[in-house]
Amino acid sequence: MLPCQRHLFEIPADVAYFNCAYMSPQLQRVTAAGAEAVGSKARPWEVTPVDFFTTTEAARALCGTLIGTGADDIAVVPSVSYGVGVAAANLPVPAGSRILVLEDQFPSNVYPWRAVARASGAKIHTVPRPADGDWTAAVLEHLDGRVAVAALPHCHWTDGGLVDLARVSRRCRELGTALCLDLTQSLGALPFSVRDVEPDFAVAAAYKWLLGPYSVGFLYAHPKHHTGEPLEHNWINRRDSEEFAGLVRYRDEFQLGARRYDVGERSNFALMPMAVAALEQLQEWGVPAIQRTLSATTASIARGAGKLGLTVAPAPLRAGHLLGLRFPAGIPEGLPERLARERVYVSVRGDSIRVAPHLYNDADDVERLLATLAAAV
Ligand SMILES: Cc1ncc(COP(=O)(O)O)c(C=O)c1O
Repeated sequence: MLPCQRHLFEIPADVAYFNCAYMSPQLQRVTAAGAEAVGSKARPWEVTPVDFFTTTEAARALCGTLIGTGADDIAVVPSVSYGVGVAAANLPVPAGSRILVLEDQFPSNVYPWRAVARASGAKIHTVPRPADGDWTAAVLEHLDGRVAVAALPHCHWTDGGLVDLARVSRRCRELGTALCLDLTQSLGALPFSVRDVEPDFAVAAAYKWLLGPYSVGFLYAHPKHHTGEPLEHNWINRRDSEEFAGLVRYRDEFQLGARRYDVGERSNFALMPMAVAALEQLQEWGVPAIQRTLSATTASIARGAGKLGLTVAPAPLRAGHLLGLRFPAGIPEGLPERLARERVYVSVRGDSIRVAPHLYNDADDVERLLATLAAAV
């Protein structure tokens, strides 16, 4: 368990922010890295060709460590939709086959597959939300030889409903089904290793649980996909692009590994140092310790909410960092306004509210959330 880390952020005392699943608050060290990085563009004469590579390589290595692999398996992408676009361009989807998604899955891991389905004559097959909350059993039930690609998250973005990816992945390998993961609502908060899961592709945006900036994401590509087609043809992902004098000796070979999938201008001088600072902080805390700590926070919220008559999925079926609280008779009138007035920040979705804490939340925040809910029911 980690002690409260609020002192590392800039969150006013009267703000109870439980919306990391929307956008994480910025660590002071990330703000400082960004300010220095933005300032450095005032002095381009100090920017050398090697600077186009070093920070990006550091980010790649840190991200690789986070998921149990090396820098060579990581590409830099600007968004989840871009990363899923790479997967969609490289995974075979025969006519008549299926692409598996969850009901109400985040669109960035759905739209690219709808385009693939249209072009190839495949079908999107949606796993309905299971009445008992067990997404793993539901996915396994719908996974069969017809599924060419399972396009899944580690936990559902609306309420943290967990998918046991190691089990799903084992079944995928038995069936010859490719696995494309959107880890945006889990990576950085929920331990994940490509050694246990072996996805074909996995992508995460940095601005939520990776505590990084907007417009940066990381794409894992399994080594068997290191000879695939990138979405675009930029110069820096080509072999020997470090030698600026030789850039017009055009070549067909790429940089090593997953780097061929890097977005153009991926050495984003303003954002990449921020991503590195955030990943370093996550590494210092350790993701297992983050998950244990946030699980204790959501457990105490779940207990308090239960006493108010709200329902919550049982702990083994949900991720520890993301919690959906359901009101049996729908959201009480005036609750969103009351939460806003009290400066308690959550996401209200349908008949439930999504609570997404991080290490900056303290016991006082939890008390204020529960008191605001209690006053509304
Ligand atoms: C599960 C999930 N994936 C992806 C995203 C963001 O996708 P993109 O980077 O394509 O904008 C979000 C944002 O809320 C999300 O919740």
